[in-house]
Amino acid sequence: MGHKVMVELVPSILSADFAHLADEVAAAERGGGTIIHVDVMDGHFVPNITLGPPVVKSLRKVTSLPLDCHLMISNPNDYIPDFAEAGANWVSVHYEACPHLHRTLELILHHGMKPGVVLNPATRVDLIEEILPMVHHVLIMSVNPGFGGQEFIPFSLGKIRRLARMRNELGLGFRIEVDGGVAHDTITRVVQAGAELLVAGNAVFGAGQAERDARELLEMARAAEGAKAAL
Ligand code: DX5
Ligand code: ZN
Repeated sequence: MGHKVMVELVPSILSADFAHLADEVAAAERGGGTIIHVDVMDGHFVPNITLGPPVVKSLRKVTSLPLDCHLMISNPNDYIPDFAEAGANWVSVHYEACPHLHRTLELILHHGMKPGVVLNPATRVDLIEEILPMVHHVLIMSVNPGFGGQEFIPFSLGKIRRLARMRNELGLGFRIEVDGGVAHDTITRVVQAGAELLVAGNAVFGAGQAERDARELLEMARAAEGAKAAL
């Protein structure tokens, strides 16, 4: 009833049919997706190649939802201006790919986009404490980045909980996003742990029923959130 909805479903187009991307995004949006997750891979930082600014530019023409660009690339600084130009709204970079993370986040801000930092499964959340005040979101990877449809790594739940605790202790307002293996069998637990931005690729697009599957996932997430609020 008066409960403020915080969880959002963030469909990841990685598992969409790229030949019908506009239709896929529209279906996910009808199903309740409110942010579109765009996985950028360079075949160097991760062992796979996907897409870059030209596709972001095309997506910009077919949706007004925020485009959440997850850069799984080496030397992200070199491409930030191009993503801004293409119409990206949120840009997240990997802690593991940024030797000068503070500078990279400044660059994203300077280009008018919302900066996020991403942690691989093996990276501790404590390592980003100092830069938390400047990020809009923190993305906890719950699989090793590179591919859709992988199995959720359970210890990610502990990282989400620790990050939520840090946010409380520090009195900050960044948002907590989770990415990898978020599906019908895991979404309740990630919401209970404290994640609010729920990236899902295979679970939304894998069966070719993006509207139906997005709606189901979002309903499960909201139920988990409601149960948590009632505690
Ligand atoms: C993985 C990507 C994810 C991917 C998630 O490297 O960062 O965004 O699309 O896919 P699922 O939801 O299928 O695990
Ligand atoms: Zn991603």
